[in-house]
Amino acid sequence: MRADIVIRNARVLACTGAPLIESGFVAVRDGRIAAVGPMAEAPATERNVDAEGRLLTPGLIDCHTHLVYAGSRALEFELRLSGASYEEIARAGGGIASTVTATRAASEDELLAATLARARVLLAHGVTTVEIKSGYGLDLASELKCLRAARRVGHELGIDVRTTLLAAHAVPPEFKARADAYVDLIVNEIIPAAAREKLADAVDAFCETIGFTPAQTRRVFDAARTHGLPVKLHAEQFSNQRGATLAAAFNALSADHLEYLDDEGVAAMARAGTVAVLLPGAFYCLRETTLPPIDKLRAARVPIAIATDHNPGTSPTLDAPLMMNMACTLFRLTPAEALEGFTRHAARALGLSMTHGTIEAGKQADLALWPCDSFAALCYPVGAVRPTQVFKRGSVGLAPAH
Ligand code: NIG
Ligand code: FE
Repeated sequence: MRADIVIRNARVLACTGAPLIESGFVAVRDGRIAAVGPMAEAPATERNVDAEGRLLTPGLIDCHTHLVYAGSRALEFELRLSGASYEEIARAGGGIASTVTATRAASEDELLAATLARARVLLAHGVTTVEIKSGYGLDLASELKCLRAARRVGHELGIDVRTTLLAAHAVPPEFKARADAYVDLIVNEIIPAAAREKLADAVDAFCETIGFTPAQTRRVFDAARTHGLPVKLHAEQFSNQRGATLAAAFNALSADHLEYLDDEGVAAMARAGTVAVLLPGAFYCLRETTLPPIDKLRAARVPIAIATDHNPGTSPTLDAPLMMNMACTLFRLTPAEALEGFTRHAARALGLSMTHGTIEAGKQADLALWPCDSFAALCYPVGAVRPTQVFKRGSVGLAPAH
C-alpha cells in the first residue's frame, strides 16, 4: 500500500466503538485515511510521524457555535452576577439584541478578522471542523454578511466550516411586537436568498418564550424544507415548548440544549435519528440547575453530541476539551461518551457522518494527537488541554498556534 504519511506508535482511539489500539498506526493518502491498525501491520513509507505513544483521536468537530459577531457582553455578565436573569436582560433589550447592534455596524472584513481569531483558538484546541451560525444580523443583508464571513473562515484556515442560518434567533428591534412579520421576512426573503447564494448548509431557530413560538418555528422549517435545507433547533433551553418533537417531525439533524426536554421529545428524537447536542458551557454560565435527561437519552439510544456553543452571551469559551470535562463533571457523561460527542455524533449533527468523525479507512484524515494516553486523561484536567499536533486532510501543516 502506498501512503503519503504514516503516523506510528500512537494509541489510536477511532471513536467507532472499537477498543483502543495500544500501539497503532494511521496511514494517510490523498488527504484520506488509507488504513488503520496495530503497528505490526504498518506499511513502510518515507514520511513518518512518531506519535511516541500519544493518544490519536479524530479531529474534534464543534457542531454548535455562534462564532460570527462583534462587540462584547462583559457588562451583561456583571448584571447577571448581581442577580438579573438572562431572560430579564433579553426582555429589557440587552442580550442578543446588543450583539445585533454591534454586528450590524461591523463590516464583513471586520467580522472575518474577529471570527478568524476565534477559529484559530478552536483549532489550537483540536477542532478541525466547525459549524458557524448566523443570528446576530437579523436582517437580510446582515445575515448574509455573517454567513459570508463564516464561509471565508473555512477558506482562510483550510478547515471545514458548515454554516447555519439562524435568522430566527431573536426578533430584531424594528419588528418589536411584530414577530410574525419578521418570520414573513425570514421565510420570504432571508431563507430563499441564503439558499440561492449557497451560503447556508442548514437552518436553525430559537424556539422559546423569549424566541419564537412552535408555530413560528414550523413556518421557518417549512421554508427550509422548500429550499432543500436540513434543520436544527435551539430547543427546551429554558422551558419545554415541545420544540424537540417539532424538530424531529422535520427530521432535524439535531435538537440542541434540551435541559427541559420531555419524554415525548426523547422518543420523537430517537425515532427520527435526531442528535441531542448538549451544551455544558451555556449550562455552566447560566448557572442552570435542571439537567438534560441524559439517562433517558441513553436508554432511547439518541446519539449525544457536545459542543462549545461559543457565543458572547451564554458561552464565551473556545476550549473544546474543557467542554468535554464539563460534560463529564456537570452532565455525568463518561469520558468515552464525551469524546464521541465531540467526534462521531457531532459529525452526524452536521450531516457529515460519511466523511468525518471517526478514524476509519476512507474517511477524511482529520486527526488530533494529544499529550495523554486515555479517554479519561483527556477529559479530567480542567482546562489547558491542547493537542500537540493537528492534521487536516492529512496535512501536518496545521500546527496549533499556542
Ligand atoms: O445558544 N439560546 C440562544 N442562543 C445562544 C445565546 C445567544 C446569546 O445570548 O447571544 C445559545 O445559548
Ligand atoms: Fe446556541
